[in-house]
Amino acid sequence: MTAPVGIMAALPQEVGDFASRIQSPTVTKIARRHYTQGVFGTPGGADATPVVVCVARVGKVAAASTATTLIQKFGVKTILFVGLAGGVDTAQAVRVGDIVIASHVAQHDLNASPIFPKHEIPLLGITEIPTDADWSAKLTQAAQDGIAGSTAQVHTGLILSGDQFINSASAQQALQTQWPTALAVEMEGAAVGQVCYEHGIPFAIARTISDRADDQANHDFPTFLETVAAPRANALLRALFP
Ligand code: ADE
Repeated sequence: MTAPVGIMAALPQEVGDFASRIQSPTVTKIARRHYTQGVFGTPGGADATPVVVCVARVGKVAAASTATTLIQKFGVKTILFVGLAGGVDTAQAVRVGDIVIASHVAQHDLNASPIFPKHEIPLLGITEIPTDADWSAKLTQAAQDGIAGSTAQVHTGLILSGDQFINSASAQQALQTQWPTALAVEMEGAAVGQVCYEHGIPFAIARTISDRADDQANHDFPTFLETVAAPRANALLRALFP
């Protein structure tokens, strides 16, 4: 039996109707989360892709816990994370509605200095964790297919994670100063990245930009979440799993 692909999002809207499209689903409740397991394509057929989807809830601990369960209990062969993010690139080329595919992830709120260098993951000796090239290429293609006909663009680059919703020009500026190559900020990706790195499991992340992590973000994010997040997730995941 082929190992399943794990699909994660932080909030239900961010994974759209994916769980309800899974064939022969079984739902397992572990640690207050529902893991829906099944296949895309014809069950038992050559085109069948086994998947497990879970809404992790928000933040790095929730994401790390869910990723660990996907790996250890469900034996996933990869983890794909989909959802929203705030744009933080200094060039402001990353606009609301665009999609960012992570090339690397880092925890912007991790700071064990002076014991370890600022932002470095203690005892792993790395700061930025690379995503899987093949799965990122698949997500890029699915993102491009999903936004075809719109003015949105797909970008690839560094995504930052931290246990904070970034919602002020000064906080956005501080991230830009410390991470000049970062394109987007969210609250889970680098936690999934660390768990996958430690287990030797490939992972990839696609984030639609819902806000610019500035003073408007408190308004832009919930509006985007209610109106655009689910259709976007559906377009991306339908392109990935037709
Ligand atoms: N996810 C979407 N927008 C975000 C922001 N501004 N900060 C953190 N996570 C986000």
